[in-house]
Amino acid sequence: MIVLHEKIDVDRPRREAFAYIQDFTTTAEWDPVTSSARKLTSGPVAVGTRFALNCDLPLGSLDLEYTVTHLEPGSLLELQGRSRLFDVTDTIHFSDVGGGCRIDYRASFALKGPLKHLRPALEPGMNAMGRRSVEGMRAALQDDFPPPVAGRGTRRADHWVLPGVALFTAAGYRRGQRGRWNPMSAWVGDKHMVITGASSGLGYATALELARAGAALTLVIRDERKAESLLNSLRRETGNDKIHLELADLSVMAEVDALVRRLHRRGEAIDVLINNAGALFNDWEQTNEGLEQSFALLTLSPYRLTNGLRPLLEKTPAPRVINVVSGGMYTQSLDVSQLQASARGYRGAVAYARAKRALMVLTEHWAEEWADKGIVVNAMHPGWADTPGVESSLPGFHKLTRRFLRDPAQGADTIVWLARATEAGKVSGQLFLDREPRTTHLLASTRETPEQRQALLDYLEGVDAQCHTASGHTTSTPDPSPA
Ligand SMILES: NC(=O)c1ccc[n+]([C@@H]2O[C@H](COP(=O)([O-])OP(=O)(O)OC[C@H]3O[C@@H](n4cnc5c(N)ncnc54)[C@H](OP(=O)(O)O)[C@@H]3O)[C@@H](O)[C@H]2O)c1
Repeated sequence: MIVLHEKIDVDRPRREAFAYIQDFTTTAEWDPVTSSARKLTSGPVAVGTRFALNCDLPLGSLDLEYTVTHLEPGSLLELQGRSRLFDVTDTIHFSDVGGGCRIDYRASFALKGPLKHLRPALEPGMNAMGRRSVEGMRAALQDDFPPPVAGRGTRRADHWVLPGVALFTAAGYRRGQRGRWNPMSAWVGDKHMVITGASSGLGYATALELARAGAALTLVIRDERKAESLLNSLRRETGNDKIHLELADLSVMAEVDALVRRLHRRGEAIDVLINNAGALFNDWEQTNEGLEQSFALLTLSPYRLTNGLRPLLEKTPAPRVINVVSGGMYTQSLDVSQLQASARGYRGAVAYARAKRALMVLTEHWAEEWADKGIVVNAMHPGWADTPGVESSLPGFHKLTRRFLRDPAQGADTIVWLARATEAGKVSGQLFLDREPRTTHLLASTRETPEQRQALLDYLEGVDAQCHTASGHTTSTPDPSPA
């Protein structure tokens, strides 16, 4: 038997440290030898939860399966690990010290087969590994990472355009993940986040991760028939019962306004607003309010929703807005006269890309405008992810590229990171992919002028005012009385 025993003190409340460590998939973030970790069982972490880890050891790659054998919330976690080379029992005690927490970590290894005879030779190396591991845990919980900057390789890839676009695939996600991401231990158990379009694809994957992390969620969906199964599945998977649903067709401004009024009536401050709902419309259509639908859903709706919810965002100490745009916007410049496409010569992908370009410009504008209010506004694009939206709107592209697409969780990863990671709150007005700031223009020809940006703001203000007049409501100064 080899016993490693380390103690560290971290400047985090005990429940936060426990919440982070009990999800043993986080070992891939803090243990230098763990190359990947995943949860094998569904539901919240409890006795019986199993995790599969892969470790890169000097002896080679090793698969381990861990099972939680004892769990006392906030104070004790015990796991049994099995592998072909050894069995291990990890016992982790958490206690209060000062304003922080002490973590007492003991790992008892029972070596198997010929390794038993190598114990004296192995022990010093294993001890050093144990020390590196708890130091990684300390850094993860210290959570004091610098603001994100684009790496040189990424800037070069973007400069040459095609390598930059190649990073939209799952290979881009794997490249980003390989040892370059900081641990994400920020506590969100006291945060309220609003996610639009949470019924499928990236929105669902985002909701799942943030619910797992303990945030209170308001999920905006438009289809009442999906409500029950959505709630059941999130609660079953995460054990989180702080999930609230709101119904709204976000391409209809009257419904956006009604949603804003309902959220104001509830009065719950919003820490994070995620404007994710979206669709690519292959056929031209106007909404019943006379708006071209791509513009209505992808630009005007987040404009109106974000402005309407700003007072609730301002109630929190460090609010964040996350706009989900698209790599498609790289193909289009900002042209307000084309923002609401006409039926003649309509091309869905172009209308979609223009609407997302406008949302990117809005992101930069809000970031600047609201900096003094402490509201952080960023955009992300997910690369290419295999979601119901992509399959139905781009069937040819989907069939051709399916093997290279990200899964929804990989596509949503940067949304989750922008919502949760401490360092993501240190930058504003940027576009991200794989947790890295990215250029907003791959081609010089798509760059807009200050006049074009101002034209967008004037245009949105004008259309917005018309919608206000039509609906007879104002959302930026909400009516406190029930509507
Ligand atoms: N997947 C990609 O590769 C990719 C690439 C670039 C950008 N994006 C962007 O990522 C976001 C999520 O897309 P996704 O790929 O996850 O697609 P998805 O699977 O189709 O999910 C889109 C979500 O938006 C909701 N939605 C659509 N129209 C709505 C409306 N009028 N009112 C309220 N909700 C509405 C959908 O609700 P229903 O379930 O009722 O349809 C669904 O929940 C979108 O903004 C999309 O433009 C995705």
